Amino acid sequence: MEICNREDRLCDMPCGKASRLVDNGEKLRREKVSTLRQLIDALYEAYDTDNVNIDYVKDLMMSYKSNPAEWKKFAKFDRYRYTRNLVDAGNDRFNLMVLCWGEGHGSAIHDHADSHCVMKILQGKLCETRYAWPTGSETENEDQLKELEKNTLDVNDICYINDSLGLHRVENPSAMNPAVSLHLYSPPFSSCSVFNKQTGQKSTCKVTFWSKYGEGRNRVKNYLHISQKFYLTAQFSIYLSAKTHIKESCSISKLHLRRWKSLQRFKFSYGRT
Ligand SMILES: [Fe+2]
Repeated sequence: MEICNREDRLCDMPCGKASRLVDNGEKLRREKVSTLRQLIDALYEAYDTDNVNIDYVKDLMMSYKSNPAEWKKFAKFDRYRYTRNLVDAGNDRFNLMVLCWGEGHGSAIHDHADSHCVMKILQGKLCETRYAWPTGSETENEDQLKELEKNTLDVNDICYINDSLGLHRVENPSAMNPAVSLHLYSPPFSSCSVFNKQTGQKSTCKVTFWSKYGEGRNRVKNYLHISQKFYLTAQFSIYLSAKTHIKESCSISKLHLRRWKSLQRFKFSYGRT
């Protein structure tokens, strides 16, 4: 699969496919994708060729306007780090995923394994910092990775990067609000390189999915479950001490027994959800 930019698509692509993509571009200008489903269908169409126009893909990603009702089922957060949640595996030429960034969460400085990356903000703000590839020529006191630019991205903004443009780090700068982003990688990759800012040292990092197709783990729910268990255990201790007390005095028995029974009912109904 070859991926080209708009400027060279007419000379690089076979005539039939070039005209089809130009037609798609005109179609996009007339009727932009308005739902996530339409975006995915349009991406399949765009990647159904050996010569993909990445500018057209960027246009598609730009034209979709974030609608939380469409993507919230993919947005699964973890308390401690950002998550990658697969939306669509594409046709092996691209994949689409939702990344969830809790307050202050950020990625390592990374490359993109020779792939194209188009990122769109669905909720909140993200800060992207770009770095040059390490050259090894910096002095001892300097960071090996030179910062090139910093961009703040708002809802519906997109940014694009590939390895020829350098490395980057993405973070949610907010201490109050989570953020969600939609990422297209083309072709998909299962590992990339991460870099130490000071030394420039590179290591390989396997990339995995926190959930797929809106299903799978939701650690926040698990944490609630665990905390609920602690709560029920604490309440059980209260019940036992109350029961002991009941033997000596019946004055508080009915209250505690009612509370314990209602907790039991809640516990069993919670366990079924
Ligand atoms: Fe990235």
